This record gives sequence, structure tokens and C-alpha cells, in this order.
Amino acid sequence: MLRTHTCGQINLDDVGKKVMLAGWVSSIRDHGNIIFFDLRDRYGITQIVCNLPELTPELLELVNKVRQEFVIQISGSVVARSPETVNPKISTGSIEVILEDAKILNTSDALPFEIQEGENIGENIRLKYRYLDLRRDSIKENIIFRSDFTLKMREFFSSENFVEIETPILTKSTPEGARDFLVPSRLNPGSFYALPQSPQLFKQMLMISGFDRYYQIARCFRDEDLRSDRQPEFTQVDIEMSFIEEQDIMDISERLIKYSVEKTSNIKVDVPFPRLTYKKAIEKYGTDKPDIRFGMEIIELSESMANSGSSIIESVLQEGGRVKGLLIENGESISIKDVDNFNEFVKQKGGKGIGWIRFRENEIASPIKKSLKEQTIKNLRESLKITPGSLLFFLGGETSWVCNILGEMRTEIAKKLNLVKEEIFKFLWVVDFPLFEINPDEDRIQCVHHPFTSPQYDDIDTLDKDPLKIKSRAYDLVLNGIEIGGGSIRIHQRKLQEKIFSILGMKPEEYNEKFGFLLDALGYGAPPHGGLAFGLDRMVMILRNEESIRETIPFPKTQKGVCLLSGAPSPVDRKQISDLHIKVDFQTKQ
Ligand code: AMO
Repeated sequence: MLRTHTCGQINLDDVGKKVMLAGWVSSIRDHGNIIFFDLRDRYGITQIVCNLPELTPELLELVNKVRQEFVIQISGSVVARSPETVNPKISTGSIEVILEDAKILNTSDALPFEIQEGENIGENIRLKYRYLDLRRDSIKENIIFRSDFTLKMREFFSSENFVEIETPILTKSTPEGARDFLVPSRLNPGSFYALPQSPQLFKQMLMISGFDRYYQIARCFRDEDLRSDRQPEFTQVDIEMSFIEEQDIMDISERLIKYSVEKTSNIKVDVPFPRLTYKKAIEKYGTDKPDIRFGMEIIELSESMANSGSSIIESVLQEGGRVKGLLIENGESISIKDVDNFNEFVKQKGGKGIGWIRFRENEIASPIKKSLKEQTIKNLRESLKITPGSLLFFLGGETSWVCNILGEMRTEIAKKLNLVKEEIFKFLWVVDFPLFEINPDEDRIQCVHHPFTSPQYDDIDTLDKDPLKIKSRAYDLVLNGIEIGGGSIRIHQRKLQEKIFSILGMKPEEYNEKFGFLLDALGYGAPPHGGLAFGLDRMVMILRNEESIRETIPFPKTQKGVCLLSGAPSPVDRKQISDLHIKVDFQTKQ
């Protein structure tokens, strides 16, 4: 070993000992006759004192050569720091090591950025030199947290009799709503593997095999547009169980989260998590991923504003629309400019603008003040228990359009008014999703989750009568307004699975070609089963209070799916391409 201790280990109990340390020189402070090195490794920082007059000429020469981020090995004696130089912020802050010998293990080129300044450096440069960025405390802590967190999850799974099983990476398409990443097969000209969007079909096969409790920390791949909470490759904590119902999966998920979060952080997790139906989530929050750390729910105003005197509202109601609103108690903090911005936002979404009323002690301000009836104002004050200073936004139109817009405004207003406290973590199950929805771009029916989700309906023959009305046995888990997991009870009968494929517009030839192996497997005694998958990267992002998923992944990709460190994706030579029996249109590429 090149060291007797790590740089985060030595304390007052070690005073008088001879130690050997190895690490990176994170800072050098030159005080004339004394030079201080902060020696850093994964565990912490130890202050090394070089008393220049006491060093041999060779050691003095070496010390003078040392630069920032050089890798050095030192030996020396541990002494207690004088009280005024104690640094309570670090674990080794009460001691220092007096240098007696040293060796330069490696030099370092001039750095592209100061390691400790990393936070203020542009993300592209951090990603290009990710190995340096990972030397920074905050990101290093995230990576270590991630490791501890998954370890605790594995402990939990093992104590609950789950089996960890790996499923293939080179596989066939598993639809989860994104494009596949494809890998051409050299041995099978013209054929492609798909990288898994999730292990969904394999975990169902495992249930059919009899592994009634499966889990995997599984890498998944989705070729979709990237956002701050999405990466093209990400990790799922994937679970599947047999002979269970929704309640059982929710129960095990809650206990898993409580165990792994509480063992690795100071966050207290209260179980069971509250539940909300999809319908209520849309009505109250305008989204199926509500942030319930704050109230300000969407309120129904159709009745109270029916005879308000406003012609716009009255015509909306006559056409069968609804009027809904948001009541902001500290409305004075929302400026005229903010209101104008919201007005613009509604116009961009195809509306005429947002209505509003500011309530003062004995009067109101509103663009439709002249037409508003006294009685309407009085009713609103009473029914909504409005206090002076409140601002009421209202919007009329088709219900889901109105809810959607007010939902986005709710999030924006909460940010403006600082209603979201960082240290609060609110989990929420969203249940009773519709099974199908209409794809707005292609005007065809599609699954809200994946096509293997069981309907809350057992009459197969009439399933296609009004498919959009059928609910699914799916559940999503939301944390602080972000979807961190989703799952369902699955279809375990071949006939029902075929019916769902046909409702989705697939002919038997098509579904047999794509999913024949699943249909066959369901025919050989598939047990009732279900499961769920958590997005590990997203969970770590939220638990560590990070804004971007990239802060939780050691080597992430940019918004354009590029690894700036390795340069992937990159061109390959023509021979490699022709071996794969494919042609690239190089001209189009340029
Ligand atoms: P779903 O598609 O909802 O379900 O994915 C489960 C969870 O994975 C996370 N996630 C992502 N995280 C980062 N980047 C992405 N591109 C990304 N896409 C998804 C989310 C999401 O909640 N097979 C089903 C699960 C099941 O039914 O058991 C599935 O994959 O946190």
C-alpha cells in the first residue's frame, strides 16, 4: 500500500503517529518559510505542513516542484493544530501532518478549470473533463450517495426474498413510448437488435418461469428528446411479482423507499403515501404529476361566475365549457408584468387571455370590472373566503385545456412566491389512469402506459365498445411533482393481450411477428402478476436537491445525446459499416 491512512481519516487520536498518505494536491499556500499543501483523496483533505528550513535539499527541491493536482505520496508526523487554526468544517480539521518525506507519483498539466470552482464553470467544459469534475465534492457526494442508495435497496430486496436477475441488452423492441436504439447484426444481415427501453417483457417471462419476486437495477435506453430529467440511457430499479394485486406492489414500494431513503439521508418518509385518481389529479392540479408540497388547487368557478355579467364567460358556459381558477392569497406579489406574461401564455395556447380580479378591502381591480356584477363579487368573497390582497385568476374553455393551463400557471406562481420548500419531500400515488388515449399528432389510439397493462375491465368481448372510457390497473409514483416510477398489474391471458393489440390497430400478423413470443408464453400458464419500475437517476436527483439528472450520472450525455468526454456518437470507418451490411448516406449526414 502506498498509504497508511486516507486523507479523511486522521484525528486527534493519531497525534504523535508516523503516517503515510497519498492523494492530489488540492491547494498550495506559500507563507515564506512554511508551505501548506491540502492533500485530497476520496475521503477528505489533510493539511500537510512543509517547514522549509528543516527539509533536506532534495526534499526542498521536490516541494518546490509540486503544483496543483499533482499526485504525491508523503510521510510525516501527526500533530495537533493550535486552537486558532482548527478548522471545524472538515473531519481532519484538528490535526496537521508535518512533512518528513515525499514522492511525486505523477504530475498534472495546467487545469482547464479550477476544481473547486467547478460549480460556476460552463457545463460543456465540465462534461468534456468529467474525470476532473468528478473530483469536486458535490458531484462526488452524489455518486457515492447513489451507490449507498442502491446498496440499501439491494439489502431490502434480499431481506424480502427477491432474486436479482439480469435481462438482455441486445434484444427485441419493448415499446415504452420512445424510439428504439438499434444495433445492426453482422451475423444476420439486414436484422437489428433493439436496446431495451425497459426489461418489461423479460420480467414478465420470469414470472411465467416461476421467479415470483424479481428485481434488477437495469440500464434502459430510449431515443427521445432530452430534458433536464431525461437521459438516453438511464437506470431503472425494476420490480415484478406474481400472485399479487396493486396494493401489494404499492406496499412493497413504500417500504423499499422508506428503508433506502431513511438509511442514506435525513429525510423522513411517511407511509403509506397518499393516493389520487388521475381524474382528480387533472381537476385539482392540471397534471398527472402534481406537486403537493403546496396547495393552491384549481377551483371550480362555473357556478359562481355563471351570471357574472361577463359575456366571454357566459358564452363559454353556453358552449358547454367550464370556468376554473386559481386563488393566490399573497396576490400583491404577482406584478402587472407577471399578469401580462400569463395573458400572453394563454394566448399562445390558443385562448383569448386570462381573466383576473384583485381583491382589496372594499373594492376590486380587474380588466372586466365594469361588466362584473356586485353580487358576483360578493358571492366570490364569501364562497372562497377571500382575504384582501388576494388575486383570482380565472379561465373558461374546454375542461382539460383549462386545467392544463392553470396547472402550468400554478407551478410557475409557486416558484415566484417561493411556496416550495426544498427540504420537503412529498410522495403521491396517481391511480385509475385511462387505459388508452388519442395520440394528438397521429390521431390514433395508443396506450397511456404500455400495451401489457391490464384493464379494469374483464368483459373482453365488449372491450372495444368505448375503449377511451376504460381505466387501467396502472399506478405512477410522483415525488415533488416529478414522476419517479410507474407500473401496473399485467395482462396474463393470451386472449386479452391479443384483444388489446387489435384495439391498438395491429393485425394478427403484426402482433404475432412483434410479440408472438410473449403471446406463446402467456399460453403456458402465466400467473397473475404485476410490477413497477423506479427511475433511479431521477430519484437521486430529487433526493440530492439537484436541478438536473446529469448531476447524478457519472458520465452523462448532453441535450443532443453527445458524450463530450469520449466524443460518442462518432463516425465509424466504411469497412465496419459494410461488415454490418448497412449503407450510410454520408451526403445526407453533411
Ligand atoms: P416507465 O416508462 O414509466 O415504465 O419508466 C419507469 C421510470 O423510469 C424513469 N424514466 C427515465 N428516467 C430518465 N431518463 C429517461 N429517459 C426516462 N424514462 C423513464 C421514470 C419513470 O417513472 N416497464 C415500465 C415499468 C413497469 O410497468 O413495471 C416502464 O418502463 O422515473
